[in-house]
Amino acid sequence: MKKMIKNGVIVTAADQYEADLLIENGKITKIGVHLDDAADEVIDVKGAYLFPGGIDPHTHLDMPFGGTVTADDFETGTIAAAFGGTTTVIDFCLTNKGEPLQNAINAWHDKSKNKAVIDYGFHLMIGEVNDAVLEEIPNVIEKEGITSFKVFMAYKNVFQADDATLFRTLLTAKEHGALVMVHAENGDVIDYLVTDALQKGHTDPIYHALTRPPEVEGEATGRAAALTGLANSQLYVVHVSCAEAAHKIAEARQKGFQVWGETCPQYLLLDQNDLEKPDFEGAKYVWSPPLREKWNQDVLWDALKNGQLQTIGSDQCSFNFNGQKDLGKDDFTKIPNGGPIIEDRFSLLFSEGVKKGRISIHQFVDLVSTRSAKLFGLFPQKGTIAVGSDADIVIFDPDKERTISAETHHMNVDYSAFEGVRVTGEPVSVLSRGEFVIRDRRFTGKPGSGQYIKRSRYNSTQTRQAISVQ
Ligand code: URP
Ligand code: ZN
Ligand code: ZN
Repeated sequence: MKKMIKNGVIVTAADQYEADLLIENGKITKIGVHLDDAADEVIDVKGAYLFPGGIDPHTHLDMPFGGTVTADDFETGTIAAAFGGTTTVIDFCLTNKGEPLQNAINAWHDKSKNKAVIDYGFHLMIGEVNDAVLEEIPNVIEKEGITSFKVFMAYKNVFQADDATLFRTLLTAKEHGALVMVHAENGDVIDYLVTDALQKGHTDPIYHALTRPPEVEGEATGRAAALTGLANSQLYVVHVSCAEAAHKIAEARQKGFQVWGETCPQYLLLDQNDLEKPDFEGAKYVWSPPLREKWNQDVLWDALKNGQLQTIGSDQCSFNFNGQKDLGKDDFTKIPNGGPIIEDRFSLLFSEGVKKGRISIHQFVDLVSTRSAKLFGLFPQKGTIAVGSDADIVIFDPDKERTISAETHHMNVDYSAFEGVRVTGEPVSVLSRGEFVIRDRRFTGKPGSGQYIKRSRYNSTQTRQAISVQ
């Protein structure tokens, strides 16, 4: 089955040009001007942009958390992702202390196998390091193609690992070619501040932010970066929310440490005031790290523009307002942390970033797709439009306007944190390995058609060279 996409404007992290594109067996096999190869189907996109499919490096689908389970599973979550222009997600596989890592991986394969409509991979949580875990890691890399490991420095008594675990994970990752990811907040200090706030009767959602101040994120980020330098290893800091953390990353990079950083649309566009919305609405805006004072947004946009932060993740972790977020009606610590963003990550960044002149269109592609492919061992199979790459393609109308709303989104959740926000630019059609998953804004995919992707090892030299700053 051959498909020809005609009259597109191909936009990658490096180039923008008009061309036709031939797809065979899920791969891009030819790119050129006025191609006249025979094809089973010819799609004239009439000057629309063709972007490489988005890669969301940070999702939590079907994940037990905060006394409940995220509202979007691998089916609804990946359908919503596809509507939003994302064709690959890398989801966090949670492990249980004392159990083989492989048990957790098997459980995540079971959750995703017959459900995902786009391709996916897993990061693996490391909660503790012992001889059994250390022995399993090389096997996980080799056999499962899982080349990134996540250590939580927060969520005391739940996911939090100690510094020895982080350090030994960094050493092991260095040895075997993997990237260590951290949720960087000081969980012990947060635990103290939370206990103190509750003792004083402070139970409203705003106390979620007040008990997790920027200093605890900056401190943990700096600590993780220092340990990375000591181990001569590599680190990726997820969901950077504030100036303190962004500065620690820049400082480490200045010293030549391999420290990479991700931020998310919520930290670029929402702020701490949202937590004070009346009628418990503030619970919709409970993320960890929390939303920050508005001025931090400019620091984060600057860091994206000047290359000190490299990727945009959604941190998709959706909970319904009714029935899940309201678990914390009388106690902010019981509000499940996280929100629904997987569908809007791509459009929000295009609209607020490119259309408003904060980043170039090439930086946009780099941030939503290419850099994640390079950091997480997917490039050049994914993350670009090139001969030999998977035909993961977004046909994008840069001028179409729409309003984000829970009424029209495809996430399985009863609110949107961006309700009423106008965005310019829309993924009109989306192909995953050459098949339409979204066609003219209708879902045409099939649960189970998404493939599990084994990823390549992290290679320091290649990754550093590949991630250039424009
Ligand atoms: O609040 C958040 N970020 N929820 C998802 C879990 C995590 O920490 O990434
Ligand atoms: Zn986190
Ligand atoms: Zn997360």
